[in-house]
Amino acid sequence: MKSPPYPAWLPKAVLYQVFPASFCDSNGDGVGDLNGIIDKLDYISALGCNALWLCPIFDSPFRDAGYDVRDYYRVATRYGSTEDLERLILEAHARNMRILLDFVPGHTSSEHPWFLESCKHGRNAYSDRYIWTESTFFNDPEGKKSGSFINGHAERDGNYLANFFYFQPALNYGYADPDPEENWQMPTNHPSVLSLKKDMFSVMRYWLDKGIDGYRVDMAASLVKGSNPELVQQEMVEFWTEVRAWWDRDYPHALLLAEWSDPSQAIEAGFHLDFMIHFNRAGGMKPFRGENSRTILAKNDVSYFDRAGKGSLNSFFDEFSEHRRNIAGKGYLSLPSGNHDLPRYSVGRSVEDLKVIQTFVLTLPQVPTIYYGDEIGMRNLSELPSKEGAYRRTGARTPMQWDSSVRAGFSSAPVEKFYLPLDPSSDRPDAASQLEDSDSLLQHIRRLLALRKSHPALGSEGTFREVSLDTGSNYPLAYLREHDGQSVLIILNPLDQGWTLEFELEGSASAMLLGQGDFNSTTAPRHRVDIGPLDSLVLEWSHAV
Ligand code: GLC
Repeated sequence: MKSPPYPAWLPKAVLYQVFPASFCDSNGDGVGDLNGIIDKLDYISALGCNALWLCPIFDSPFRDAGYDVRDYYRVATRYGSTEDLERLILEAHARNMRILLDFVPGHTSSEHPWFLESCKHGRNAYSDRYIWTESTFFNDPEGKKSGSFINGHAERDGNYLANFFYFQPALNYGYADPDPEENWQMPTNHPSVLSLKKDMFSVMRYWLDKGIDGYRVDMAASLVKGSNPELVQQEMVEFWTEVRAWWDRDYPHALLLAEWSDPSQAIEAGFHLDFMIHFNRAGGMKPFRGENSRTILAKNDVSYFDRAGKGSLNSFFDEFSEHRRNIAGKGYLSLPSGNHDLPRYSVGRSVEDLKVIQTFVLTLPQVPTIYYGDEIGMRNLSELPSKEGAYRRTGARTPMQWDSSVRAGFSSAPVEKFYLPLDPSSDRPDAASQLEDSDSLLQHIRRLLALRKSHPALGSEGTFREVSLDTGSNYPLAYLREHDGQSVLIILNPLDQGWTLEFELEGSASAMLLGQGDFNSTTAPRHRVDIGPLDSLVLEWSHAV
């Protein structure tokens, strides 16, 4: 039988994203580290996750939390050593878990030795490693300077293109449609571009050879520049297809996960998995199409998961289904509850709201990704001053709350030395307390992930079909998941009123997997089901009428 074009473990993967500085500090310096992550592998595994994605752990001046790499071959001292990483890999593998590192191929730190060379007046091997215009006084009468060009930085006479912040110069993968009048725009087969590619492939191989299980690729769509999006996409397909040629041969077990936020394009380009991220345009990535879609997990007036009941998931489901059709058999998508760039999904919501949202996310046909702390409903500390280039993202990066002690079990350092302040509220959620409480968000998520495991219909491979509940409104939401002859019906009520639902559907409920509604009065094909306010039901569904 032909093996699938992705690692065999992917369909059953459940990812957990760790922001290393804030996860667990093992050496008492107030900053999380790799040994701290090792200490928490059992917790992550018991939650039901089997793969970790670590935000960048490489040597960096940390002006963008490590997304400004100074040395791709060195683990940042504050996080530990290569040996610690090797131990983390072994410990993870011993638990049947996988380790994904963050790979930032689009830019380096302005302190990277390549960039320092590139800034020099005299030509050298790195002069064309970044995108430089030919003169510092390059003016732009025809608007050819798409992107932010930084002037006056170097001894060299020219402006460099910044990929994100000004200290993150864009590496030069060439232009898809170089302007013949602008010699500094190089074609993608320019020898300098080829030598960069060779170096970046070596970086990728280096950590794969140490045993990691793949990469999350930062701003994966942004490598090749150009003004024609179709030509740029073609070049990106070529680039990642080239990666896949050696990847499939040498590392077929390893995952290529994109930060692209357009699964149709990312999977076409050669990735196995891509995120659908509910944010507005940022870093060259696409926002969801519909205004409503963007708010599926973030709260505002038109969020579906809001008690005001004004939301609709239609445009989200259209886009979600379109991506699934486009990538079927080739790869998967992931709909994260949050990440290090987004405000936490808990903003403005109660634990009950969060449970309904998690039931939704964890029963969709997607590869789930849980952002550390979202499983306990950690709050977004929106008033904090910016830390390491985080700006408004700072509030979602605070130390993990492991227990109810003064230091929250994060570190033995005095709290003033913590990477970021702890949530100061007296009722801040924590993992230890929620493990003791069978009604907690943490236990809810553990139950859902256990159900996903025992019921493949709920997993990423199953089919998905919306079911009409005949209420004449968008609420509640119901959908049927099916796989290998098994069916599960999910009903979600994000409103604070209960319902007695009467609807038609072939088959009948055979067991209540999650929730407490009354489903006994179902006489196929007409059903009567009670659902309480802010509740979710997961029903095993039998088609044997
Ligand atoms: C990605 C990262 C973000 C970072 C940016 C620049 O969007 O998720 O945190 O600042 O790329 O590397």
